[in-house]
Amino acid sequence: MKNSKEKHISLDSFINKALYDKKKGYYSKKDPFGKSGDFITSPNISIMFSEMLAIWCIAFWENLGRPKKINLVELGGGNGEMIYRMIKVFEKFNKFNESCNFYMHEKSSLLKNIQKKKLFSYKIKWINSLNEIKNGPNIFLANEFFDSLPIKQFIKKKNKWFEKKIESSHPQNYKFIDTITNIKKLEKKIGINLSANQKIIEFSPLSYKYLNTISKKINIFKGGLLILDYGYFEKKMKNTLQSVYKHKFNNIFHNLGNADITYSINFYLIKNIVNKLKLKVAGLTTQGEFLTRLGILQRAEILAKNLVFSKKSDIYYRLNRLINDRQMGKIFKVMFVTTKKNRFKLGFKN
Ligand SMILES: C[S@@+](CC[C@H](N)C(=O)[O-])C[C@H]1O[C@@H](n2cnc3c(N)ncnc32)[C@H](O)[C@@H]1O
Repeated sequence: MKNSKEKHISLDSFINKALYDKKKGYYSKKDPFGKSGDFITSPNISIMFSEMLAIWCIAFWENLGRPKKINLVELGGGNGEMIYRMIKVFEKFNKFNESCNFYMHEKSSLLKNIQKKKLFSYKIKWINSLNEIKNGPNIFLANEFFDSLPIKQFIKKKNKWFEKKIESSHPQNYKFIDTITNIKKLEKKIGINLSANQKIIEFSPLSYKYLNTISKKINIFKGGLLILDYGYFEKKMKNTLQSVYKHKFNNIFHNLGNADITYSINFYLIKNIVNKLKLKVAGLTTQGEFLTRLGILQRAEILAKNLVFSKKSDIYYRLNRLINDRQMGKIFKVMFVTTKKNRFKLGFKN
């Protein structure tokens, strides 16, 4: 029998609290990008990463017919390093720079403050909602954004679908509980048969909400969304939820507020969702291939020229971390979402 004090919390609410609670959440308490921080993202490995994205954005703007105004929106800006380095490139391309309205969409107040300090000399608008973006073509950039959004998990047992929830009889005393669910209801809402040939489903209602809003804007005003994230292409979904504390895997219920909780993006599902939302996936590849096609090797050569050996090796060491298959080159994927008619392919196979 259920104890009257027991509470069932959905997994996405639980993750949301653990990561973004205003006082105790992981992203609210300390800067995870700092020196003693838990993780290091691509823009913080090498400026070359952001330089390549900047060039990609300028080329896409040209493909869109050099619109007089374009919104460049970064989703989840972390410590602001990526947009900072990108603007440094844009400053060399006057026409593009003048056409750009820069937006940052950041949930964590702590990170927002760090971003504002770093970017104080640039004209950037911080927005709480994507509805604050001016009408016009948009480029949405999402580096490791979607993998930080809370998910739900559903599992199939004896031909029935259950939602994984969390039971807490006392605070600090959590365990998973499977509750029977009507998966068809969710499938009807999003218009996708999520459960076909699956034993587990990972679905982020918040990611869906973002994709829905972004798709509407792109359908109306043109532009695109570039997603760079940790994830996989296969149809079959896996249990990828993980908690990392001090660089080690951690029980999801331990070190709450001090551990990062993430999951791997199923790019096949994202593709299905954006197709349903009347957009297309114009490109899908690995981070290594994407950056290489954009010319990161040539850029490294230019930067390394005339440098002393130690500095040269540092550039190549960082390059290797970004593009090597055994580092971030393969496990990180890049997906480009745009309108059905658009033919832009830079960074992807023709
Ligand atoms: C893993 S970090 C990546 C940061 C940055 N893009 C980078 O590559 O360094 C995820 C970022 O997304 C932000 N974030 C997560 N959920 C968000 C939401 N719902 N709205 C806005 N920002 C969010 C986090 O606060 C953080 O800045």
